[in-house]
Amino acid sequence: MRALITGRNGQLGGSLANTLSPLGDLLVVGRGELDLSHPETIAPFLNENKPTLIVNAAAYTQVDKAETDKDAAFAVNEAAPYELATWAKKNDAPMIHYSTDYVFDGSGENYWREEDPTGPLGVYGESKLAGDNAVCAISGSAMILRTSWVYSAEGQCFLTTMLKLGAERPALSIVDDQIGAPTPASWLAAMTANILIGNRGDGWRDAFDKSPQIYHIAPSGVCSWYGFAEAIFTVARDRGMPLAIETLTPIPSEDYPTPAKRPHNSRLDTQKFRTRFDAEFPNWRDLLAKILG
Ligand SMILES: NC(=O)c1ccc[n+]([C@@H]2O[C@H](COP(=O)([O-])OP(=O)(O)OC[C@H]3O[C@@H](n4cnc5c(N)ncnc54)[C@H](OP(=O)(O)O)[C@@H]3O)[C@@H](O)[C@H]2O)c1
Repeated sequence: MRALITGRNGQLGGSLANTLSPLGDLLVVGRGELDLSHPETIAPFLNENKPTLIVNAAAYTQVDKAETDKDAAFAVNEAAPYELATWAKKNDAPMIHYSTDYVFDGSGENYWREEDPTGPLGVYGESKLAGDNAVCAISGSAMILRTSWVYSAEGQCFLTTMLKLGAERPALSIVDDQIGAPTPASWLAAMTANILIGNRGDGWRDAFDKSPQIYHIAPSGVCSWYGFAEAIFTVARDRGMPLAIETLTPIPSEDYPTPAKRPHNSRLDTQKFRTRFDAEFPNWRDLLAKILG
């Protein structure tokens, strides 16, 4: 296997570079080698490097900036996956693409299934949905893994922001009416490696069907951002990390206005993935405890 992994400096791309390395040769690229905002450069790059597997972990992920940067968001999140999937199909190279809970409108309290109606609330979600649709329309051996609330121990994310703010400030107000499952990038990368390693003896291609498949993937259990922050500070305190935080206040989304609207309900139904790959998902709290060491 010769896998191309995009998003080298991202939370997920960085983790995939570690977890997929036992599987074969990896070509792990950042925007310097392959700028996905210029989709016309993708096919020539692939013709030169000839991957047998494409793992697209890169994305335009700046949810608020996307509201005023629509063309760039759609270039990276729709046009680039379209080009990758088109080359992949022509060259018999399966493709893994990642997507988001933000394709849904966040209404109700049910867990979203893969086939549920979408309804993004902002440009980022619209562009990611357009990417999902583009990959599906190419109709190759592609897999779209939709996940939620990705975080990691390094880089800028909710976890590192909370640890920084919690070390500096005695009080914080955190949104309590958006519900989802915090997903460590390292766990998502490990699950991706697991399905490629497989256990049915047919090798990594066995993870793919002939037609594109969308799967939801996130740890079990859910919380609000407030609940996630509470759990972070509890574990951090147990680990003896320096914390100034004394008061954590739950607030509604209206009290923390952002340029892009966020979905209230990001619960993802992961049954399809767990059944197809015979996988058991740990609780998000156990994963958080592991990430904080
Ligand atoms: N983060 C979340 O909460 C979340 C939630 C649900 C789903 N997802 C999905 O999960 C996947 C991985 O996200 P992540 O959390 O790892 O995101 P991330 O940490 O923001 O990383 C995104 C990566 O994409 C790269 N990228 C952006 N524009 C590019 C371009 N024009 N050319 C080449 N590379 C470009 C970035 O490169 P630079 O470092 O050079 O900018 C970065 O390495 C994405 O599909 C995302 O939509 C994320």
